[in-house]
Amino acid sequence: MTAPIDLRSDTVTKPSAAMRQAMAEAEVGDDVLDGDPTTRRLEERIAGLLGTEDALFFPSGTQANQTGIALLTRPGTELLLEANAHLVHYEMAGLAALWGVQIRSVATPDGLLTPELVRGAVRPASPHVPRASALAVENTHNAAGGRVLGPEALDGVVRAARAAGLAVHVDGARLWNAAAAAGVPPARLARGADTVMVSVSKGLGCPVGSCLGFPTQLRPRAWEIRKRLGGGMRQSGILAAAALYALDHNLGRIADDHANARRLGELLADCPALRPSVPETNIVMLDLVRETDTADTVIPRLAWAGVLVVPFGPRRLRAVTHLDVSRGDVERAARLIAETLR
Ligand SMILES: Cc1ncc(COP(=O)(O)O)c(C=O)c1O
Repeated sequence: MTAPIDLRSDTVTKPSAAMRQAMAEAEVGDDVLDGDPTTRRLEERIAGLLGTEDALFFPSGTQANQTGIALLTRPGTELLLEANAHLVHYEMAGLAALWGVQIRSVATPDGLLTPELVRGAVRPASPHVPRASALAVENTHNAAGGRVLGPEALDGVVRAARAAGLAVHVDGARLWNAAAAAGVPPARLARGADTVMVSVSKGLGCPVGSCLGFPTQLRPRAWEIRKRLGGGMRQSGILAAAALYALDHNLGRIADDHANARRLGELLADCPALRPSVPETNIVMLDLVRETDTADTVIPRLAWAGVLVVPFGPRRLRAVTHLDVSRGDVERAARLIAETLR
């Protein structure tokens, strides 16, 4: 029996033999005690890619995001976010539970903030309302189907935030995808931000890890917050080596995932039971057209046929392409999905 084609997420990738080899050979130290040389090399490399002065390695994107927000906000202030942002829905209310920050969510039709929406969400200073301290931008936007906020659009949003006195955090779990789709270096999509989170455990195929980029002066505080959250890691060079391997070998091919996602959408465009999105990056949203089809009933049938996807709404499925699915896998997945829904 052939293995299912796993399109649930780009986090499902397994470290390749060559990546494992790089991990096995990593030079390591104790990163909490007096430093780990491979981790430091990764942090410097990521800072260079993001155009930030410094960076710190974290076990997860959630922890790096939360640290970024802690650095830029104060308890009792508001954080502006697109309404369907990861930070709003999938980080266990960390903003409230850890930092005492109130979410001011900004509804958009497509996940993409605009300067007008940012200006409209900032309340005029008043003794009766909370002050906004920061804005977080998710790029690409996961729940919106991997939408990209391009360089000029981002500049406008950052300018609007700055004009309102807000700090800016970028949740760039998939910034690599955004940059490849926009045809710019990642640093271009970090421009103007104070803190930038990037993941290596998604499109780059590592088992673990994210980094937070920031100005040098924020390093001691970022270190302190990460340690408080239990994110200080000892021989973390083993994980950093995987990330360095991924930057050398997997970053350059990320646009292949976008082409595969487009192919999946194109192949399913004729399927009467589905309305696929036209993906900008590696995420395809599949809306179920028939009243009788729901995500709950269709997903097990697709799994039985050999294609794994996740629900993203009562009648919406999400399919994500990644390092471990080939063009052939995507074409087979499209065939299996169409046959199952016929
Ligand atoms: C946009 C976005 N931000 C943050 C995260 C959190 O990353 P992690 O799962 O490593 O905590 C994710 C994970 O899927 C994500 O999609």
